[in-house]
Amino acid sequence: MKVAIVGCGWAGIRHARAFTECGAEIAWAVDTDEKRAEKVRRIQNSGRIAAEYKEAIADADLAAVDICLPHDLHAPVAIDCLGAGKHVLVEKPIAATLEEAEAMIQAAAKAGVVLMVAENEVYSPLYRRVRDLIADGIIGKPALVQMTRGAYATEDYKQNRPWFLDEKRAAGGMMMSGGIHDVEKLRMIIGEISAVQALQAPRRCPEMGADDTGIAVLRFENGAIGTMIQSNSYKNAITAAGEEIHRLRIDGQLGSIEAIGTHGGRICIFSEKEDLVSEGSYVETEIVVPEQDTFYLEIAHFLHCLERGETPITAGNKMRRSLEIILGAYKSMENGGALVPLE
Ligand SMILES: NC(=O)c1ccc[n+]([C@@H]2O[C@H](COP(=O)([O-])OP(=O)(O)OC[C@H]3O[C@@H](n4cnc5c(N)ncnc54)[C@H](O)[C@@H]3O)[C@@H](O)[C@H]2O)c1
Repeated sequence: MKVAIVGCGWAGIRHARAFTECGAEIAWAVDTDEKRAEKVRRIQNSGRIAAEYKEAIADADLAAVDICLPHDLHAPVAIDCLGAGKHVLVEKPIAATLEEAEAMIQAAAKAGVVLMVAENEVYSPLYRRVRDLIADGIIGKPALVQMTRGAYATEDYKQNRPWFLDEKRAAGGMMMSGGIHDVEKLRMIIGEISAVQALQAPRRCPEMGADDTGIAVLRFENGAIGTMIQSNSYKNAITAAGEEIHRLRIDGQLGSIEAIGTHGGRICIFSEKEDLVSEGSYVETEIVVPEQDTFYLEIAHFLHCLERGETPITAGNKMRRSLEIILGAYKSMENGGALVPLE
């Protein structure tokens, strides 16, 4: 399987390592920055580099293109690649607008190829375990959800990703970049989101063109409500060292469940479910979910779907919804936190 990595920055390097582990051939490493393209090429020490993705898609042997570019480039590049008959894996968000997302979905259908969004956190063993525990009824029907993503846009981070500071290129700020991961995980764990309200906090990262910290209130179709905090100015010793903090707490009729981590981590459960109450006293259970590389898991799934002709869990047409929810959050921010119902 010959693939091209288009965009050889932070995400592109991780995708390239995962494709390599899966046994795929990186035939092209494409980046306008030659040094970055060469760094990806060197992972397999074969293949070619290019500054222009059109050179790669002219290669008749190329099966798939992996797009790890700034958000405003996802749709135009994906539409060209799909039109050339290449399968496409595109980093989140699927696109910058719903119209663009729709055009990508149509282009994939027309060409009869796969369009998958690289929503790696949906493949996280930690959040899949939370989903399964909730489905088993361990805390009963979920009522209240609290999700927090804390990051710190350090000087190094800002210098390496100038496009991220530009509202247009990034299609928003932290609510788009981080929030899209979290709404997708919540859709998987709790169910469909029916309305959103959002506000942004005073900006503490002045270079950012859009929200560096925001809060969204989510309403779920099953009656649960939730808050989602997305911050790029969440400063402590952990985030200053470059790590993000991801926490989820869900309160249900019979208890609560908390998860801390991304690719693995810790789950704490307090449950009043009958079979978990020991001799009349309630117990708290802790589960440790070992870390797994979620980039590897998503890319293995992409290749599996291509080989078997199956539809990916994070196929383009399923990932359009998370973009719609985040754009709803931005609409709400523009309107003083007004409720935005989602169809
Ligand atoms: N899943 C995750 O956890 C995760 C984490 C970080 C970023 N991402 C996503 O990955 C994508 C890229 O983000 P990043 O952090 O890797 O950014 P980055 O800035 O590190 O990498 C982007 C690369 O694209 C290159 N580039 C820009 N315009 C180009 C063009 N026209 N042609 C070829 N190359 C071009 C840049 O030179 C850069 O090397 C975004 O969609 C982002 O949201 C996902």
